[in-house]
Amino acid sequence: MSYQALFTTLWQDYAKRNPHADKVHHLLIAQGEKIVNDHIALRTFNHSKINVDQLAQFFIAYGYKEKGKYDFPVKKLFAKHYEHSDPNAPKIFISELLTEKFSPELQATVTTCVNKIPDNALHSENFLTAGTFWQPLSYSIYKKLLAESEYAAWMYAFGFCTNHFTVNVNAFDEFKEVSDVNTFLLEHQFKLNTSGGLVKGTPANYLEQSSTLAEEVPVKFIEGTYHIPSCYYEFAKRYPMPNGKLYSGFVAASADKIFESTDVGKSKS
Ligand code: NI
Repeated sequence: MSYQALFTTLWQDYAKRNPHADKVHHLLIAQGEKIVNDHIALRTFNHSKINVDQLAQFFIAYGYKEKGKYDFPVKKLFAKHYEHSDPNAPKIFISELLTEKFSPELQATVTTCVNKIPDNALHSENFLTAGTFWQPLSYSIYKKLLAESEYAAWMYAFGFCTNHFTVNVNAFDEFKEVSDVNTFLLEHQFKLNTSGGLVKGTPANYLEQSSTLAEEVPVKFIEGTYHIPSCYYEFAKRYPMPNGKLYSGFVAASADKIFESTDVGKSKS
């Protein structure tokens, strides 16, 4: 299988889980824009069985290489990004929750969940779209996790899937700026992440980003079905560095705000 085929599989899974992202995708195509995938992002816990390095193996197998590391001290996250030698290949951003920095209860919940993942689950790429291995879900556990970490609660509810795809604004024709895309989406009644402003980053950072707010989707819990924020769709414009090459990394301060696209509180506002 080629990495292109893997991205097709990941997109199909993501589009099915996030109807709003699929709608935005088709709306942009209908507008005549070309969709180029800048990067995808995956989330996990820092447990040795499923940490960033474990998830990265699936991409390293296709020739991806680690290119950057990022710390998010307030959210207690760590991330790495990976690039392929083919400049058309999307970049990969994988983050992990630093579970030891949370309560013993949260750590126990994560351990219980991780122990339910069969050892052979990581032998197949299907792992990247597997979702949760810890069904049935408990809404009371979800709420408890949410009180400590929005990220932990998201992982508990959705597990392993693509957290977001990112459209490369550089490849657009009509929309020159991230702010043009934002205006277009707001006109079409899509909700955007406003944390840190609609556009995160500046040309001085060589990267500007924005994102939709995660759509609330129905999730089945033991206690009943609840609508909770799932994934979001991101837009990125990259600027040339002094050496003339387009910046290919990430900006931690911007990514920190982008993480909040799945924040339950923010999506209610
Ligand atoms: Ni992103």
